[in-house]
Amino acid sequence: MADKTATLSFSDGTPEITFPILEGSLGPDVIDIRPLYNKTGKFTYDSGFLSTASCSSTITYIDGEKGELLYRGYAIDDLAHHCNFLEVCQLLIYGELPTREQHEKFNKLVLHHTMVHEQMHFFMRGFRRDAHPMAVLTGLMGAMSAFYPDSMNIHDPKQRERSAIRLISKMPTLVSMAYKYSIGEPFIYPDNSLSYAGNFLRMMFATPCEPYVVNQVIERAMDRILTLHADHEQNASTSTVRLCASSGTNPIAAIAAGVACLWGPAHGGANEACLMMLNEIQANGGVEKIGEYITKFKDKNSGVRLMGFGHRVYRNYDPRAKLMRETCHEVLAELGLQDDPLFKLAMTLERIALEDDYFVSRKLYPNVDFYSGIVQKAIGIPVPLFTAIFALARSIGWIAQLNEMIADPEYKIGRPRQRYVGEKLRKVKPLNER
Ligand code: CMC
Repeated sequence: MADKTATLSFSDGTPEITFPILEGSLGPDVIDIRPLYNKTGKFTYDSGFLSTASCSSTITYIDGEKGELLYRGYAIDDLAHHCNFLEVCQLLIYGELPTREQHEKFNKLVLHHTMVHEQMHFFMRGFRRDAHPMAVLTGLMGAMSAFYPDSMNIHDPKQRERSAIRLISKMPTLVSMAYKYSIGEPFIYPDNSLSYAGNFLRMMFATPCEPYVVNQVIERAMDRILTLHADHEQNASTSTVRLCASSGTNPIAAIAAGVACLWGPAHGGANEACLMMLNEIQANGGVEKIGEYITKFKDKNSGVRLMGFGHRVYRNYDPRAKLMRETCHEVLAELGLQDDPLFKLAMTLERIALEDDYFVSRKLYPNVDFYSGIVQKAIGIPVPLFTAIFALARSIGWIAQLNEMIADPEYKIGRPRQRYVGEKLRKVKPLNER
């Protein structure tokens, strides 16, 4: 038995049971309740996983009270200032930051797999032009697994690694294809001489008619958006990928499930919702009307909240927001957009909310989505594509988490239990007697 234990007693005569308490390297201890059902015939009930750790993980750590986010022990601020996104990918997937030589090799490997199978272009043409990019991306990701029969076995580390490289390499191509298709422009093939972020920007915004020069400030901003969204421990889409992959399905199919989950407005869709809110305020009077909107956001009966403020886990501040704010100001200055009415509105709204006792006393600070929506809008990314870019970044976290799960000796197919509250056993009456 472990040094620390927890004992559960029952009022129905079931004998008391003692569980080991397992320590993490950081964060709360966990009570290992796995023997509970075998010993007592009872389950625990924790809808929404409010107090349940679904796995042990070494990848990401969040301390919501301190406003801390670590990838493999490195603070997000440190990584965002000193590493590019592909170094962060290597860190998340392999556990350590790469040496220069390892990084150059990885960079080359990723950039040489950026093209998608030509057949994907025909597949794409089946979609309506006005389809939501996340619907398109979910479909494309599912289709991708049909193109790589050599990597279907999730239990083979080599095949998993091949899938990881393909995913990192091809996600930007697929997201930009979804965009180009929606505006009726030709797909732009990757240019492997560019950086990961630069290549993505070119595939998004270049046309075959003119040369395209990547703006370095925008390239850095895109790289940072990707780094900040790369992983966030056991969030809904990551848990979806883990659960899906736990059945032994192929890695790309499991990632497709993650894309579908991320689409939801309670998860990846928040930056889109934030931009829509800004547009609405702008259309109804702009800066002059902020006071009225703030009153509405504070009124529980209004049914609207200040989007881009507050966080379930970060109760102090969101460390990603500080970095995104920095990038936001850099991008607006670079593009000469400081006086653009929408961006002025966002900055004024941020200032007023941060001075308002309602938000201050509830520790409601801007989250990463408040600024990432503004940055993406300034770069020229259409609002419905925001979540697809989030998916591009998060696919690294998904694949790292999937690999960790499969390699874990304690790995089992995920199979939650339930508290059944439906009908007890009853007899079927023949149709003419019902
Ligand atoms: N605007 C106005 N009031 C708010 C807001 C907000 N954005 N967020 C929370 N509150 C109030 C809430 O009404 C409650 O008030 P009271 O104590 O008087 O009852 C208090 O603040 C505490 O909020 P909560 O309901 O305990 O917070 P929660 O953990 O349930 O919600 C949240 C977290 C992110 C869903 C919420 O803050 C929210 O809806 N924010 C706006 C949407 C948003 O920006 N979401 C993106 C989050 S970042 C995504 C990511 O990390 O991937």
